[in-house]
Amino acid sequence: MTTPDIAWPRRTERLELRLPTAESLDEVMVWRNDPDVTRWLIRTVVEPEAFRSAWLASVADPTDHAAVVHLDGTAIGIASVEVRDGLGQREGDEPWHGVEGSLGYTFAPAYAGKGLATEVASALLDLAFDELGLLRVTAGCFAANTASWRVMEKLGMRREQHGVRDSWHAELGWIDGYTYGILAEEWAARSFGR
Ligand SMILES: CC(C)(COP(=O)(O)OP(=O)(O)OC[C@H]1O[C@@H](n2cnc3c(N)ncnc32)[C@H](O)[C@@H]1OP(=O)(O)O)[C@@H](O)C(=O)NCCC(=O)NCCS
Repeated sequence: MTTPDIAWPRRTERLELRLPTAESLDEVMVWRNDPDVTRWLIRTVVEPEAFRSAWLASVADPTDHAAVVHLDGTAIGIASVEVRDGLGQREGDEPWHGVEGSLGYTFAPAYAGKGLATEVASALLDLAFDELGLLRVTAGCFAANTASWRVMEKLGMRREQHGVRDSWHAELGWIDGYTYGILAEEWAARSFGR
């Protein structure tokens, strides 16, 4: 896969998105396994060394655009867009190859509710559509993770799937999940109004 050169760090109004480093990931580990963070994650408690290795490996992975989010120099979040294939018939030019992005974000609890995840996710949608040229971006969450799907709705993403008891939660058992999506043209149309 050929990937355009992506310039890092990237600034948003209040934040800086930087490529992960061992030092910044150590800072992230201070809050990453906090129960308020892990409650609605699929990868709940992470082993620090494996977490660090995976995020450092993303730097050389052309399909994984992962960043540590800094506020005034402090690592307060992690976020990523992973590029993957869309659905499609395995014939001809295979235009579905590498056209979808999967969006993810996780923030330190002390910084919740200030619009920071929305600010970062917006910057990653700009990256996904304007620089990576993706067709669609999707993101999933537990239906009970209101803060997460509120972020997606504020960005203009559409709830495309409500999976009834399709998601396993370690404490709650089988509960509902949502998938949200947005197309490049929808994001562009929305951007003009900003
Ligand atoms: C989900 C998460 C990224 C949101 O980050 P954030 O910076 O607080 O998000 P924002 O402030 O941009 O937006 C959150 C929205 O949800 C709302 N919200 C938060 N908790 C809520 C709740 N329990 N009920 C209703 N609304 C809630 C906020 O009021 C805000 O909406 P508003 O701007 O309309 O008021 C953050 O809480 C987090 O990292 N959680 C732990 C990890 C996680 O769940 N990651 C996502 C996995 S899918």
